[in-house]
Formats: sequence, C-alpha cells, structure tokens
Amino acid sequence: MIRAIRTGDCEAIAAIETQIFDTAFDCGRLLNFMKTRAFCGFVDDANIPNTAHKLNNLDMPSNLAGYLLAMITVDEAEILSIAVSAEHQKCGRGERLLDYFLAYTAAQDVKVVFLEVAADNVSALTLYHRHGFAEFGRRPSYYKRTDGDCDAIMMRRSSD
Ligand SMILES: CC(C)(COP(=O)(O)OP(=O)(O)OC[C@H]1O[C@@H](n2cnc3c(N)ncnc32)[C@H](O)[C@@H]1OP(=O)(O)O)[C@@H](O)C(=O)NCCC(=O)NCCS
Repeated sequence: MIRAIRTGDCEAIAAIETQIFDTAFDCGRLLNFMKTRAFCGFVDDANIPNTAHKLNNLDMPSNLAGYLLAMITVDEAEILSIAVSAEHQKCGRGERLLDYFLAYTAAQDVKVVFLEVAADNVSALTLYHRHGFAEFGRRPSYYKRTDGDCDAIMMRRSSD
C-alpha cells in the first residue's frame, strides 16, 4: 500500500538508493529533506495490502518496496527520486507510485511536474512518456560512467 513517508522509512530508502543509484541519498540527507516544508514523499509498503485500512496497520513492520521523493513549491513540483527495489520491479509498483503522486499534485493544484532522467534509462523513460512527461532539455554527458558518459534528459508534465 502507498502511504506518506515517515522518518522511520529513511534507512530503508537509503538502502534502496545505494542498491540502485551511483549517487545515492543517504539517511542523513533524507532526514534533512523531511524537515523541509516543501518536501513530500510516498512509500510503497509491501507488508500492507492495498485493501487494508492504514490506521489499522501502523504498528506493522515496514517492508519498503519503493518510494517517490519530491519537492513541491506553490504550483510546481520536482521529483527528486523514484525507485522500486530490484526484487519488486516490473510488478506495476513504479507506475502506481507515479499515479499516486500525480493525483496528489493535481489535488494540490500543482501545474507542472519536473524530473530528470538518464538518457539510457529505458524503463524510466517509458514510464514517464506514458504518463505525459515530455523532454524539454538535456545536460550533455551529465552522468559520468565507467563505460562512457550519458546525457541527462530534463522532462516536464503540465496539467493543462
Ligand atoms: C523506473 C522504475 C521506478 C519503474 O518501476 P517498476 O515497478 O519496475 O515499473 P512498473 O512495473 O510499474 O512498470 C511500469 C511501466 O514502465 C515500463 N517499464 C518498466 N520496466 C521496464 C523495463 N525494464 N524496460 C522497459 N520498460 C519498462 C513499462 O512501460 C511498464 O509498463 P508495462 O508493465 O505495461 O510494460 C524501476 O524500474 C526502478 O526503480 N528503476 C531503478 C531506479 C530508476 O531508474 N529510477 C528512475 C530515475 S529517473
């Protein structure tokens, strides 16, 4: 089930960040984000079924399958990170997290959502295109990799 992030989630998120990204947010950085007014995050807790009422399950241990972290400033949002742990990928969890966040931002009257993605990240690009994101800029050779540099693609999704 998708629920709002809690401080107790930060260690598990940091572990997934390290598993997946070359440049990962560590636990301290995540805790600092949570002190920021603009910060907004959702986690997909695999221990809580979608049908459960979340208030009945607050004491269950978490099993973090994925998360989405963002900043919302007035009517603009930026997705800082979205990830699903390797063992939970390709089951629709990434899509559900993005859908949930876009519904949340729509309810907050957010007009535009920004994100940045590596040009070779086919799974993420497919997901974003399907949800109405379009490229509006590139940072050439932004990601330095041992097997060659990779552009960063900047994407945006407008609500109108
Ligand atoms: C990108 C990511 C969040 C997608 O989450 P996921 O739970 O694996 O994706 P879903 O199962 O919800 O799939 C949603 C859609 O994404 C696309 N997709 C997912 N994995 C894909 C892959 N390996 N190749 C191509 N398309 C893929 C498909 O369009 C899929 O729709 P479909 O099921 O109808 O084919 C996940 O792969 C991930 O965490 N990747 C590593 C972190 C990352 O790259 N984050 C984005 C940084 S900008």
